Order: sequence, then C-alpha cells, then structure tokens
Amino acid sequence: MRSRIVVLISGSGTNLQAIINACKSENYPGDVVGVISNKANVYGLTRAQEENIDAQVLSHQSYDSRESYDQALIKLIDTFKPDLVVLAGFMRILTPAFVQNFNGKLLNIHPSLLPKYQGLNTHQRAIDAGDTEHGVSVHFVTEELDGGPVILQAKVPIFAGDSADDLIARVHEQEHRIYPLVVKWFCQQRLVMENEAALFDGNLLPASGYASEE
Ligand code: GAR
Repeated sequence: MRSRIVVLISGSGTNLQAIINACKSENYPGDVVGVISNKANVYGLTRAQEENIDAQVLSHQSYDSRESYDQALIKLIDTFKPDLVVLAGFMRILTPAFVQNFNGKLLNIHPSLLPKYQGLNTHQRAIDAGDTEHGVSVHFVTEELDGGPVILQAKVPIFAGDSADDLIARVHEQEHRIYPLVVKWFCQQRLVMENEAALFDGNLLPASGYASEE
C-alpha cells in the first residue's frame, strides 16, 4: 500500500515538486495527499493545485500563540490521515507538543551539513567562514531545532567567488535528489526513529547519516 504524505511549505516548493514528481512513478511507495502552507499566495500552493493535490493555507497570523497555531495545524494535518509529514521549507519553529504528536514520522530538510549551521542564512555563513564545502541534510525532527538524527547528507563544493545565490542553487540541486530518496525509504519502512536515533534496515545510522565518510 502506498503511504500518505502531507507536505508543509512556506515558499516556492521546489522540494515539494521533486517529491510530487517522484510519486508519479508507479513503483514509488507514496503519494502526496495534502499540502499545507502557513503563507498565502506562495508558489508551492500553485504547484500543488496544478497537480490536483489538496492545498490549504493555515496562516500563523490568525493565531495569538505558537501553541494554538500548532494545535490547529495538527488538526488540519490529521484530516489527511498521513503516514508521513514532510517539512519542505516550512519556516516555523515547532512546539514540543507538535513534534511529539508526530514523533517518528516527521522529516525535515535543512541546507547545511548538520550539526554545522543550524538556523538561517546557512549558505552565506558557510561562505563567510571560508568553508570549502557545504551541503544539505535530511533528518528526523525532534524537539531540538535542526537537531534531530541525520538520515542523509549531500555535499557540494564552495568555489572561490561564489555568491550565496550560486551556493543556494548548487545545494538545491542536491536537495531535489536526496529528499525523494529519503521519503521513499521511509515509505518502504526501511527507516525508523527509535530513542531519537535513525535506524536504516535495523542498523543505527552514523551521526552524518547513510552517506557517512567516517
Ligand atoms: C530549502 O532550501 C530548504 O532546505 C530550506 O528552505 C528551502 C525551501 O526551498 N529549509 C530550511 O531552511 C529549514 N530550516 P523550496 O521551497 O524551494 O523547497
């Protein structure tokens, strides 16, 4: 049976598109059944509508606390009866109650080689630090912001003279490659989180995930 996937976005939704495209394959083990944005009029919503996927806006501006917003978001997500909730550029800090509610079935993509550069502006920070490589991590979400166990990373080089936009584009290309793969593994039940650790085919993944060089 194909898994039911809900994707949360706040922006252009290129990762959403990559996952939708992967789901079009007959052999892919899941379908995007709903898309939720905390912002109206973002291009990711248009992408979902063009694919005939139910797309909803739940604006955080209509709620007076993070807790009340997250409770409403849980309710809305639950209407889709998802097996997996995928954060794809959903630019909100989540409450512990939200994270606990979806414990073990919440994935995030973050544009850095975690644990480096948690938070925002990761590409510029990597350039400013003189790093020679940067990248992206897909991880399970825990209560610690950008701190859950890493499942898969991809690295890219930083070239002399790179702007943040150059690096964003280079990292994005890798995001679109690795996120659909990790979602597939989850839907195939090869990937689980136990005691805040990521297990792949029953094996504990190293701190930098499946493609570890250590
Ligand atoms: C992606 O680069 C993703 O890694 C980042 O937002 C972008 C969304 O792009 N996520 C974070 O920074 C989360 N902390 P998209 O809307 O084109 O998929």
